[in-house]
Amino acid sequence: MMEQVLFRHNRPGRMVTFAEYCDEGGFNALGKALREMSPADVQQMVIDSGLRGRGGAGFPTGKKWSFVPRDLPGPRWLICNCDEMEPGTYKDRALLEANPWSLVEGMLLACYAIGVRHAFVFIRRGYATAAANLSIALREAREAGLVGENILGSSFSCDIDLHISAGRYICGEETALMNALEGRRANPRSKPPFPAVKGLWGGPTVVNNVETLANIPYIIANGPAWFKGLAAIPEAAGMKLFCISGHVRNTVCVELPLGMTLDEVLDGPAGGMRPGKTFKACMPGGASTPFLTNDHRGVALDFDTVAKAGSRLGTGGIVVFDEETCMVGATLNLVKFYARESCGWCTPCREGLPFVVDVLTRLEMGEGESEDMDILREHVKYLNYAFCALAPGAMGPVEGLLRLFEDEIREHIRRKKCPFRGK
Ligand SMILES: Cc1cc2nc3c(=O)[nH]c(=O)nc-3n(C[C@H](O)[C@H](O)[C@H](O)COP(=O)(O)O)c2cc1C
Ligand code: SF4
Repeated sequence: MMEQVLFRHNRPGRMVTFAEYCDEGGFNALGKALREMSPADVQQMVIDSGLRGRGGAGFPTGKKWSFVPRDLPGPRWLICNCDEMEPGTYKDRALLEANPWSLVEGMLLACYAIGVRHAFVFIRRGYATAAANLSIALREAREAGLVGENILGSSFSCDIDLHISAGRYICGEETALMNALEGRRANPRSKPPFPAVKGLWGGPTVVNNVETLANIPYIIANGPAWFKGLAAIPEAAGMKLFCISGHVRNTVCVELPLGMTLDEVLDGPAGGMRPGKTFKACMPGGASTPFLTNDHRGVALDFDTVAKAGSRLGTGGIVVFDEETCMVGATLNLVKFYARESCGWCTPCREGLPFVVDVLTRLEMGEGESEDMDILREHVKYLNYAFCALAPGAMGPVEGLLRLFEDEIREHIRRKKCPFRGK
């Protein structure tokens, strides 16, 4: 059995209790930090660990914390992003349904490091069980003196509140999230200024993903070298939650070392393809990541290696397609989602995504022409200039389709119908 970190306390079918978490070393890292470490020590340990954000972009976590100015007057904020609406991604839900305690402890450690007195968890409305678990954890932690005034008898005080999102995909974008939390319409804000300098209510703000923050207690307890050593390759650090779905035998969320190959994941925890089916492609990190194909089966699943292979590790939501999948149809389905979830703020995305849906629909229906591929290529370029990352993300699968499945698009045009229809 592979070493488990985030899933090490998991119990079958229920949430781990406070007593069980503490018996297994829970909150020791917080005690150690408050007793023996300065906030700067905690931040440095996170920098040294090589932890990269698990919310999609893989930005180094300790470095992000270091951007928060120490000399500005007024409060600073920490927000835990649990919006998790990326199709194919359900790791934060799996984590919180099994164990909300690591997140609570991780948030307290992050607040201590950054100098935050008040933090929020922004959670997707549909995550009722995860929100209920987290409410229990916050109440019990408060009763035990772990949240609130003078935590564990120290001079560190910190509150954590749970905010249930009204629910749209764009609320996961960190600046739209801050608007939503302030009770405004969830449109993204322009960057700069970046949230670390001017975020929630104008104060310095760090936004981190659930999985990112849940890793912090284990880094503080065991040290950066241990954390780095968890990965399967020296360039990566730590474990990663992968959510596997699509045409495989097992739909499952598993914790694996960063840097295992796609092959190892597909043949191992995914259980291989469904009986009689063969692998055609997958998205390695949620719906906005370009496809990987059979040529990429040996690619190590870590941030830099997947980027070199032309895609992104993203959230680690691996969605697998078998050989009977029409990639034009699959891409159309994905872009429809993004067109629907566009917040409508900027013209390239508001007008561009429905137009891309029209072009892909024409191609899928066998009514497309070769020029449509040029039109799509232009849009992959243009939508990079949209106001936020939703539109470039939406074009990830389109870019992959054009680069990897041009023959399949041409087949739709030549036959004047979808070659997969009626198979
Ligand atoms: C449209 C859109 C949706 C996003 N949704 C999420 C989300 O649900 N959860 C998340 O953690 N990050 C999401 N992100 C990324 C966040 O903006 C932010 O980068 C992340 O929460 C930072 O956390 P990390 O540094 O721990 O990865 C989204 C970004 C975009 C552009
Ligand atoms: S890119 Fe789309 S989601 Fe982002 S601001 Fe523009 S319209 Fe809104």
